[in-house]
Amino acid sequence: MKVAYIASEVFPYAKTGGLGDVAGTLPKELAKLGNDVKVFMPKYNLFSEIDYGLHYQWKIGGILIPIADRIHSVHVQKAYLPESNGKKNSKVEIYFIDCPYYYYRYRVYTDDPDEDERFILFSKSVLEVIKRLNWSPDIIHCNDWHTGIIPLLIKDQPQSGEFSYSNEKVFERTATIFTIHNIAYQGIFDKHTFEKAGINPKYFLNGGHGEYYGKVSFLKTGIMVSDIINTVSETYAKELLTPEYGSGMDPFLNLRKEDFYGVLNGVDYNIWNPETDKLIPYNYSKNDLSGKLKNKKYLLENLGLTFDENIPLIGIISRLVEQKGFDILNEVLDEIITLNAHWVILGSGKRKYEEMFAQLAQNHPKKFSAYIGYNDEFAHLIEAGADMILMPSVYEPCGLNQIYSLKYGTVPIVRKTGGLADTVLDWHECLSEGKEIGTGYSFVNFSGSALLQSLKTAINDFHNKDLWRKIQLNGMEKDYSWQKSAEKYMELYKKATKRLNNGSS
Ligand code: ADP
Ligand code: GLC
Repeated sequence: MKVAYIASEVFPYAKTGGLGDVAGTLPKELAKLGNDVKVFMPKYNLFSEIDYGLHYQWKIGGILIPIADRIHSVHVQKAYLPESNGKKNSKVEIYFIDCPYYYYRYRVYTDDPDEDERFILFSKSVLEVIKRLNWSPDIIHCNDWHTGIIPLLIKDQPQSGEFSYSNEKVFERTATIFTIHNIAYQGIFDKHTFEKAGINPKYFLNGGHGEYYGKVSFLKTGIMVSDIINTVSETYAKELLTPEYGSGMDPFLNLRKEDFYGVLNGVDYNIWNPETDKLIPYNYSKNDLSGKLKNKKYLLENLGLTFDENIPLIGIISRLVEQKGFDILNEVLDEIITLNAHWVILGSGKRKYEEMFAQLAQNHPKKFSAYIGYNDEFAHLIEAGADMILMPSVYEPCGLNQIYSLKYGTVPIVRKTGGLADTVLDWHECLSEGKEIGTGYSFVNFSGSALLQSLKTAINDFHNKDLWRKIQLNGMEKDYSWQKSAEKYMELYKKATKRLNNGSS
């Protein structure tokens, strides 16, 4: 199949969270399954084009994209996604949409008043590039709200005589799939946004596909118009159909229930594997965990904390936003600081959480260390050196850190929701069913006391060396590589094609 994979962030060029990881890996897995895959992303001024071997595409040439009453000049550069071992390039092409006016802002996402225009321009440019390549994709795979209007742009019914990509031959047989990585980010803008995009007003008026409480929603557009919709774990897919988790999108997802699926993300074990990880000082494996202890020592000593084999080191690596659940940690901070544990925190995001962790480290420098910012190398070091990782999320579409942690023998303590529920087996819950198959700790209630209880149980079990080793090894033996998930996406692609041809799946 020919697959156009479209995302706002792709590792290693730009990454703010898990979407970057997914978009940097899944396309290569799809290519391994025999597909012809091309990836598209904006060209931000966040990486060096020379380092990554980008080249201007003369044949595509300059593109003029009108937005509102301004015309923007867009150029296209191409590279090949690097293999994840970093040694050479894969065969998967990645096209960068270059428009400095919108993308040279030192950030992937902004709160600027023209955020809608940034992704209208991206969406239209991608379609224009595909057209100029005269490459007719079987599938356009969109990710999150930033790409939500693309399915509409190739399917809308233009007002008579107006230009529309739906009239273009290259898209005649193109089915669309829309992956929701996070329901909370919806791309909601005022009602003039569709005018700026030149989209027929009927899609906004009277509860049209893109209308949401009198505004435009890119996410709703993607949900309503795509042939197939999915999210990134089965539990989150079920949760999204409820008002509690649906963030207002549940009625629309329920309308599309027949075409809505959950596919758990995979992880890239070429990047996240303690046996080969080049970003950690000591490699180790499930057959010999001595390197893990050395990493712990290295980490603690470099952070100015005392190394003690018998004191657990608890790690946090996270975007610091409400979703990640640190409000319940805050609720029980007085007790947290009395626990016999060391803490290492890496994260950035909302000021209130950044301040909370920075202050903890300042007030209790012998127990807490906080790095406020983004640091890929440090993330690997924490996975390798910590004994446990904490993810008390309010909701978690998939979550990748806990899956990396399993491979690193770093025991996850998680709230039982979304992808966390699908990937972490609570040791005691399994034990109560007579099975010694647990891989971590999970709690159900979103409350400080439930979190504290789980932490205390984990810390207690940590002192039982044999038990702890068993939990670590159970996790290290799990395999969440991409291949299985990529095959599931292939099934969805087939369903999308069938739906396009028959009008149903
Ligand atoms: P989300 O996409 O919601 O942020 P995931 O668990 O799916 O959550 O993915 C987070 C990814 O971002 C992981 O690869 C994690 O290591 C990385 N990450 C998050 N915060 C930081 C940070 N401050 N520094 C380095 N990596 C980070
Ligand atoms: C989102 C979610 C996260 C998921 C990631 C990749 O950012 O918050 O749970 O793992 O996307 O799909």
